[in-house]
Amino acid sequence: MQVLKKTLMITTVCCFALTACKKSVIEESNRLANAFADKFLIGTAMNSLQIFDLDTLGTDIIKKQFNAIVPENCMKSMYLQPEEGKFFFDEADKYVAFGEANNLWITGHCLVWHSQAPRWLFADENGNDVSRETLIERMRNHITTVVSRYKGRIKGWDVVNEAIMDDGSWRQSKFYQIIGEDFINLAFQFAHEADPDAELYYNDYSTAIEAKCQGIVNVVKSIQAKGLRIDAVGMQGHLNMDSPTVEEFEKSLLAFADLGVKVMVTELDLTVLPGFNNFTGADVSANFDFKAELDPYSDSLPDQVALEQQNRYVDFFKLFLKHHDKISRVTLWGVTDNDSWRNGWPVPGRTDYALLFDRNYQPKPVVAELIKLTKQY
Ligand code: XIL
Repeated sequence: MQVLKKTLMITTVCCFALTACKKSVIEESNRLANAFADKFLIGTAMNSLQIFDLDTLGTDIIKKQFNAIVPENCMKSMYLQPEEGKFFFDEADKYVAFGEANNLWITGHCLVWHSQAPRWLFADENGNDVSRETLIERMRNHITTVVSRYKGRIKGWDVVNEAIMDDGSWRQSKFYQIIGEDFINLAFQFAHEADPDAELYYNDYSTAIEAKCQGIVNVVKSIQAKGLRIDAVGMQGHLNMDSPTVEEFEKSLLAFADLGVKVMVTELDLTVLPGFNNFTGADVSANFDFKAELDPYSDSLPDQVALEQQNRYVDFFKLFLKHHDKISRVTLWGVTDNDSWRNGWPVPGRTDYALLFDRNYQPKPVVAELIKLTKQY
């Protein structure tokens, strides 16, 4: 009797342990970061609520599903240095601490960008443009202060964001107008001097447009010709349902990889909302009036549209997996549909469904599809 009891007990304990173990194996392999582990990093942008731990359901998803993070807003220059010499690092410090505590690859976004930059940066006390020397000095000071604060902790920086137009020409930003083409080389030089071990990236949208791709190729070549460090080109990846095509995206991806740098998809999202004839891209200053017909899914998303979106996500991830030797990271621009900037841009007040997790913090069916896909590559 005693022996029987003991055997029964051992069997029960073993069964229980086995079930628990099986369950955790299933759970582990159900996570994006684990599934993509030997392909590329898979990341998300973090917003302020998540960084300040006010959205714990969101941060739970980040910890479980992703292995890389980028700050959606808090490291842009207008937030870090709203007045000359007055730096505000509270949120950025918390962001970096979160990444370290959870063992995530931490990216900084972004050092030099014409948008979300404070006005004072380009102006003298009379509101006129500052001299070339002054702007170079201000740029140096901003980059040096920010990059050295997180030296060895932030692993890679979007050094310059969006310097090239869709036709391949230079964007007429204040950086370009005041300093000239060299502003890019200088920015990469200052960032490297502040943290020689950090990876340095050039980042832009609509990179699948051939002329723009060529313009970016020329920028990278000029950085390389100066002997400066550049590790990767970031293709933002704010996708629409009908543009760009996977083939167009692939062409640019290969053109960048041919330069001997890595490629990253840095701000992936896929809007399902109606677009406008000629409007593509991700110019944050674009703004169109709200109209009800531009917001067709404010109650819910029809199954058919959800499926079309899933298929398009899958098609793009097939491309990323096919070229996983060239891609170092794919980052979603937010966690749940509720977080996505596409609800408010380029038309305020719409309801979009652009990301991989729904408004109830549940993975959409596409997540399981992407995990399945990793086994084929
Ligand atoms: C967006 C943020 O998501 C919004 O919250 C903010 O209001 C505007 O900027 N390209 C970039 C990102 O490099 O920094 C932008 O992020 C989206 C386009």
